[in-house]
Amino acid sequence: MKVLLTGGAGYIGSHTCVELIEAGFETVIADNFDNSSPKVVDRIERITGTRPKLYTLDVADKAAVDEMFENEHFDAVVHFAGLKAVGESVQIPVRYYRNNIDTTLTLLETMKKYHVNLFVFSSSATVYGVPETVPLTEGMPTWCTNPYGWTKYMNEQILTDAARADEELSVVLLRYFNPIGAHKSGLIGENPNGIPNNLMPYITQVAVGKLPRLGVFGNDYPTPDGTGVRDYIHVVDLAKGHLKALEYAASHKGAEIFNLGTSQGYSVLDIVNTFSRVNGIEIPYDIKDRRPGDIAECYADPKKANEILNWHADLGLEDMCRDSWNWQKNNPQGY
Ligand code: WQD
Repeated sequence: MKVLLTGGAGYIGSHTCVELIEAGFETVIADNFDNSSPKVVDRIERITGTRPKLYTLDVADKAAVDEMFENEHFDAVVHFAGLKAVGESVQIPVRYYRNNIDTTLTLLETMKKYHVNLFVFSSSATVYGVPETVPLTEGMPTWCTNPYGWTKYMNEQILTDAARADEELSVVLLRYFNPIGAHKSGLIGENPNGIPNNLMPYITQVAVGKLPRLGVFGNDYPTPDGTGVRDYIHVVDLAKGHLKALEYAASHKGAEIFNLGTSQGYSVLDIVNTFSRVNGIEIPYDIKDRRPGDIAECYADPKKANEILNWHADLGLEDMCRDSWNWQKNNPQGY
């Protein structure tokens, strides 16, 4: 199977590319390197011995995407490319809607033209908004609290409607929880531009000395230790979920949603303390005010993915902390 990975040089895209290559898939990366590095392709080749073909393009560029589809005869598309910073999306919502929706529409139109019928979409637990109860199942209400989340929500709706209208199209919507960790080689990992928004890259940059201290955003939530609880999932487990999603898409029609999480919630201080214990590095932190838009608790019920995709998250929090640090200490300045 020949698979296009849009945004394939990104954090989750690159880890998925490695797993697909190692499972025998032929992979092609399309990336504009807005939020990723061309060096990732070299690293994927070092890990797997296979260099994915690369198209440097913007997935919203219809002419460029059309030429790529004409050159390559894809069997499937895994769509990672998109703007993904929650806070930034509040500042520049129109850019987020334009980019994150146009890319999906361009792909759908081009796939239709070239009879490519398998679409796996990188969605997010952020579509659940402020959950009424946890753990979260796929049938629970969705409602968003920021433009980034709304673009995921709208893309899910677009893809669901497209699959309903086209009996040949198979769509799998993967709702990621909180991906952290890195490939055991330490050659690829999370490489945010500027000051990290997310917890683990912030911790690893404190550990490596790039940042002085961690700010813990609130310790007055209704959680065991007062800090926010999330479902952290190892990025390699998440990547393997895409393999299962492609296999499912190849034997089903319509659109299907799956939570990719572990069902285990950990607090901010759980992460900090486990990271310190596993890696022998103290992480100085200060308790700060809550971050606007944050929720107290969010973790998955992954039973549907477990049973239907035959997928399970196998790696635990210690692996996530060890592998995150292994990436950062070997790449203190990122790529
Ligand atoms: C985790 C916890 C923070 C940073 C976001 C997006 C989601 C997905 C993953 C894209 C929270 C706390 C964080 C820090 C802190 N991204 N925290 N200090 O907000 O759960 O999810 O990233 O798909 O869509 O919403 O992840 O890592 O930012 O925060 O205390 O410097 O860590 O309050 O409790 P989040 P996060």
